Amino acid sequence: MRAAMNPLVAALAPPPIPQAQGWAHAYDGSAGPLINLTQAAPGSAPHPDFLARLAEAAGSAEAARYGAIAGDTALREAYAADVAALYAAAIGPENVAITAGCNQAFAVAALLAARAGDAVLLPTPWYFNHQTTLAMLGVEAVPLPARAEDGFVPRVADAEALIDPRTRAIALVTPNNPTGAIYPPETIAAFADLARRRGIWLILDETYRDFLPEPRAPHGLFAAPGWGENVVQLYSFSKSYAAPGLRLGAMTAAPETIEAAVTILDNLQICPARAGQAPIAWAIPHLRRWREENRAEILARARAFAGVMARHPGWRIETIGVYFAYLRHPSRDESAAQIAERLARERGVLTLPGSYFGPGQEAFLRIAFANADPAEIAALDARLDGFG
Ligand SMILES: Cc1ncc(COP(=O)(O)O)c(C=O)c1O
Repeated sequence: MRAAMNPLVAALAPPPIPQAQGWAHAYDGSAGPLINLTQAAPGSAPHPDFLARLAEAAGSAEAARYGAIAGDTALREAYAADVAALYAAAIGPENVAITAGCNQAFAVAALLAARAGDAVLLPTPWYFNHQTTLAMLGVEAVPLPARAEDGFVPRVADAEALIDPRTRAIALVTPNNPTGAIYPPETIAAFADLARRRGIWLILDETYRDFLPEPRAPHGLFAAPGWGENVVQLYSFSKSYAAPGLRLGAMTAAPETIEAAVTILDNLQICPARAGQAPIAWAIPHLRRWREENRAEILARARAFAGVMARHPGWRIETIGVYFAYLRHPSRDESAAQIAERLARERGVLTLPGSYFGPGQEAFLRIAFANADPAEIAALDARLDGFG
């Protein structure tokens, strides 16, 4: 007799990016090479000095051993110092756990906050892996609609109205995937205040924070007394160091929260992958200028993309910020998936339909422009001509 699969897993949609990439197989290449605007992955390689250190670390016997559950001390210290400087706050290594990417950090935060039957508020459109992670845990992701007219920044009052006794956390992504929206520090503070008043967690995924238009503290939460009672902040080394394959991210929280996270992490990963940790600990202070150049390059791509779209009035950029733009497509009667598929098949432009990011998103496509080089962005102009 065939064994039954966990119904929570069986109910999940297959991973969306490979599914969308499948549409590209139907493209005949007639408009030029495929332009892939789906993946939120850095298009460029890591810094050569970083790669040299990685090669050295990966070839060492030390990298083959188990390490500390919360990550190597050098990386926890370097990352804590970086966070302390950026947010002007007293953050030390005891506030930091290193995880297998920000995705795992989110899973750990979800496990810390909620159990099966509980609920977590997620602004829609949401980052699909947040919703699916919660679904696998039997935790309901309650949509908190973020509106186009608000620049896709969710309203605190809407969140407050959705909180019920099952609600354990609000999870925000800022700068946001998929919209690119940058939540104002006051909004983030108001969500933290709400979480504190209602005795729930605020989980803050700041995967894209190093790409903000101005290098400033994204919020002042870490400077507030008692912040650690309600706040868990998440980060990814994937984007800032162009190294998503190393699978390294971080969680910043109160020391007692980190202790609980360590119990979870011992079960999930025993320790974070070793080889990348020393190179990243080195890169945090040494590759500041390189990260700054990448930030400037991605901002230039945002401007170039906005310039192209301004010549196609049927389309509307609803938000453009860090890494992503969220576009209203010109069709009244096709779904977002139909438009995205047709754009891939007929014009060789691969995007993700808004419907991948939660309810009510049929009018939109997500564009990961950070991944496209300037020539590809320029080529979009001709690809969109007459497409509607
Ligand atoms: C909002 C957000 N969180 C987390 C991740 C995953 O990051 P990591 O590679 O560190 O797991 C991504 C990747 O696209 C993301 O967009």
